[in-house]
Amino acid sequence: DRTLKIAPSILAADFANFGAECRAVEAEGADWVHVDVMDGHFVPNLTFGPAMCAALRPHIAGVMDVHLMIAPVDPYLEAFAKAGADNITVHVEAGPHIHRTLQAIAALGKTPGVAINPGTPVEAVAELLDLVGLVCVMTVNPGFGGQGFIESQLAKIARLRQMIGDRPVHVEVDGGISAATAPRVAQAGADVLVAGAAVFRGGSAEHPSAYGANIRAI
Ligand code: DX5
Ligand code: ZN
Repeated sequence: DRTLKIAPSILAADFANFGAECRAVEAEGADWVHVDVMDGHFVPNLTFGPAMCAALRPHIAGVMDVHLMIAPVDPYLEAFAKAGADNITVHVEAGPHIHRTLQAIAALGKTPGVAINPGTPVEAVAELLDLVGLVCVMTVNPGFGGQGFIESQLAKIARLRQMIGDRPVHVEVDGGISAATAPRVAQAGADVLVAGAAVFRGGSAEHPSAYGANIRAI
């Protein structure tokens, strides 16, 4: 379906309180929970791995949307599948055998996603559209939350939506999504909006009403 989904990124949540943060954003209207895994190698930051995903699983009633910013990725797919990820998204830039990697995710019974960095042309995913449930267009260079939206990616989103045609593939956008940029990415063809800073600002798991207001504003 093409209704707009909001996927809060817990990169912007309280790292000491992730379980409660996941429950809070879902109670306040989040559709998916987006989990950013970083390895300090593919991207210049470190977060956490499959053990954290497994710990979060009981706190997420809906879709756990796992975004792997790691290379190599193949040795870890089974661990993230066992940890309870629903979507496993890997970067087209992260290895030489993206097609094989996406097949492996599907064979684990999970929804494969492919992400593309701002510097990667959309044609890089052209041969993958029959293998994936989502394409994630990075609208910042991955590694950190709270960065500015890269305008040039709007044309890429529109081109991608055209390439997808009537396939059942979500177009997810990730980075710098706010009440200001959300209508423009949706207009261009995105239907899943990842947002970190714009969702988690001004609230807490104990006082989550700001999360709801932030989600509705996107
Ligand atoms: C960036 C991550 C994003 C990030 C988005 O590397 O993949 O998911 O958390 O954060 P905001 O919405 O703050 O740009
Ligand atoms: Zn992400």
